[in-house]
Order: sequence, then C-alpha cells, then structure tokens
Amino acid sequence: MNPYHPGAGVTPMVLAGRDADIAAFDSLIVRAKRYFPVNPIVFSGLRGVGKTVLLNRLRGMADHHQFHSIQFEAKAGKAGATAAKRELARGFFQISAPYRRRAATDTVKQMLGTVSSFSVSLGLEGFSFGLENESLRGASGLLEMDLQEVIEDISLALRREHSALVIFIDEMQELEAELLESLLTVQHYAMQRQLPFYIIGAGLPNLPVKLAASRSYAERLFEYRVIGKLDDSAARESLVGPANKMGQVFTEDALEHLTAEAGNYPFFLQVFGSAIWTVATASPFTVENAHAAKVLGRAQLDSGFFPARWERATPAEREYLRAMAMDGDEGSRSAAIARALGKTPQGLAPVRASLIAKGIIYSPLHGRVAFTVPGMSSFIERQRQLLED
Ligand SMILES: Nc1ncnc2c1ncn2[C@@H]1O[C@H](COP(=O)(O)OP(=O)(O)OP(=O)(O)O)[C@@H](O)[C@H]1O
Ligand SMILES: [Mg+2]
Repeated sequence: MNPYHPGAGVTPMVLAGRDADIAAFDSLIVRAKRYFPVNPIVFSGLRGVGKTVLLNRLRGMADHHQFHSIQFEAKAGKAGATAAKRELARGFFQISAPYRRRAATDTVKQMLGTVSSFSVSLGLEGFSFGLENESLRGASGLLEMDLQEVIEDISLALRREHSALVIFIDEMQELEAELLESLLTVQHYAMQRQLPFYIIGAGLPNLPVKLAASRSYAERLFEYRVIGKLDDSAARESLVGPANKMGQVFTEDALEHLTAEAGNYPFFLQVFGSAIWTVATASPFTVENAHAAKVLGRAQLDSGFFPARWERATPAEREYLRAMAMDGDEGSRSAAIARALGKTPQGLAPVRASLIAKGIIYSPLHGRVAFTVPGMSSFIERQRQLLED
C-alpha cells in the first residue's frame, strides 16, 4: 500500500506545489472559451522535477473542458519527426472524425477536407476521410503551410463551440528543427488570427533558448514557467499528503530530515517517502525511521538513478563528467573544462555533444554545461572517493 511513486511520469498521489501552474492553464481555458487572447505556455526544468506529471494533469483539465488535445513526446532526429507528424495526423483525424456525423456546414466540410489532404500530403495512410478538398488546403507538400492550414481549419470549427485545439509536447527540446519551426510559425499565426490553438510544451531548461533560436518572436509568444524543486511547504505536503491519505502521520523531525535529504526535489521526495514507508513499522514516523529511510533511499539512488546515467557514458565522457563534478551542480564553463583536461573546447565538442544527446548534461547558456539532475556531481565525487579509498 506504499503511496509514494518514484518513477518517470508516474502521477504522484499528491501533486504538490504546482497550484500557480495549474491556475495559469485554467486561465488559458477560461480566456480561450471567451475568445480572449492568451499566451500558450512552455514549462522548463531539470529531469525529475515533475514536468511530465504536470503536463498530464493539464491534459486532464483540457479534456474536462471539452478541449481537444494531441499529446506526444518529442524524439530527436528525422525518425522522431516522422513519429511526431504521425501523432499529429492521427490526432487531427480523431478530433475531426465525429464531425462527419454532424451538420455539414462549410466550416466542417473544409476541416474534413483539409485533414484528409494533410495526411495524404504527409504520405500517411489511414488518417484520411477520402474527402480531399478542391481548394487543396493542407496539400501543398510543404510542412509549414499544410500544418497551418489544417490547424486553422480545425480551430475554426472548434471555435464555434467555444472549444480549442491544444497540442501537448513533452521533451520539446528534442523536436526536430523543421517541425519546431513550423509549429512556432503556426502558433504565431494562430495568435494573430485569434484562433483557439495552443501549444503547451515541456522540456529541459535549455528549451526557451532553443525556441528563441528557432524563431526570435518565440520569446514573446509563450508564457514561460520554470518548474523547479518544491518550496518547503509543498515538499512537506508531498510527503505528508500521501501518508495522511493512508491514515499515517510523520513526526516533525522526520519530516524535516527527509525534505532536507531530498533537497525538496520531487523525484527524491518520492524516493525517500517510499523508503520511509518501507522501513517504518508504525506511525507516527520517527526521526530514527527517517535516518533508516535516508540510508535506504540513498542506496537506491546510488544503485539505480545515478549509475544509469554514469554507465551510459564512455571513458572519455566520464573524464568530462568528472571535470564537471568539481564545479558542483551549478554547472561549468565548457572552456574551463577543456583547460582542466588539457584539451581544446573544439577537441572536446564531440564528447560534449554526445553527453547532451544522452541527456546526461545540457547547455543552459552558450558556452556552459550543467547536469540534468541534481546530486549528480556529489555522486561522481563519492565514486571518486570510493575508488581512492
Ligand atoms: N508536484 C509534485 N509533487 C509530488 N511528486 C511529484 C511532483 N512532481 C513530480 N513528482 C514525482 O517526481 C517524479 C518525476 O516526475 P516526472 O517524471 O513528471 O518528472 P519530469 O520533470 O518529467 O522528468 P524528466 O525530465 O526525466 O522527464 C515522479 O515520481 C513523480 O511522481
Ligand atoms: Mg518527463
């Protein structure tokens, strides 16, 4: 009956500390229904802070309000782009399919035609109603134009019902360049035309920079929200809430101890919550239980979470990570790492690129690198000390 769920994208029993983010999306829904202008939202944060579970929550809200959503996780490269386009075509098809049975207004006819043409234009089978329109909307073969037309025609139909089209994109920093540019262009166009179309993105902290590099107006297009570690009261709630629901309680000391150990980091809070649930034999959970949970939780992290990253790195990449670890979790300058390793930044560029591709580090700013998870630098440091001992 353990109520804590350490994992990737696993909905926590209590989603703590995200009220402002939920309110922001709620406001988007309210405004969209009334045809008021509102900015789409991009969430960014490190691995394990809860971007995916937040996105899933917002998706649930959109469904509740009869908004129409498409949700996918972006994956890098051409193959990733193909998969994303397929998700989009499938989503457009599913959203418009029920309209075949409704009154065939011009708007609806136009939508069904464009959706059909769009999937044909992408060369995808199975997502067409066989109603390609004569106006050839969505059929140019140019991604940006076709995407714009299909999204416009769907939004125009949904607009009449005070509904909206929302595309939720997780790991958005991975989105392939052409598809990203096209989606940003369409979002920009939709804002100007007051079409109810919104991209809600989530990704690593470099996502806002990536978007701005793709289309400079992206800076002003989105509301940017940083998803980070929880504040003290939310961190406590993330531990206390699930326990309470199961009729158990924490002592003040135990709570203090575990939130500090987790650094208020959502994934670690789940790990230590789960650990204290495992070690305690009675409630209230005591500070002794918290100590035991700390040992168990750390052991689990050191045998799973951190090594999973470490072991993906090649020897040359590990050298690089060790040099980074000296600077702690704050991140390092690429040039300084090169100096420490007696190499040139250009010479290290492939190593750096490969670590970024593996999702172990990211570039928060030009010329800088940082770990994608908190605590990685101290893990590497502990490894080094173990070896030395
Ligand atoms: N607000 C929260 N309150 C309590 N637990 C949370 C919260 N947000 C996330 N968690 C927990 O933290 C863990 C990580 O969440 P999630 O997978 O959504 O993170 P993420 O930011 O998407 O990570 P990644 O970048 O690796 O995809 C999960 O176990 C989840 O249950
Ligand atoms: Mg995620």
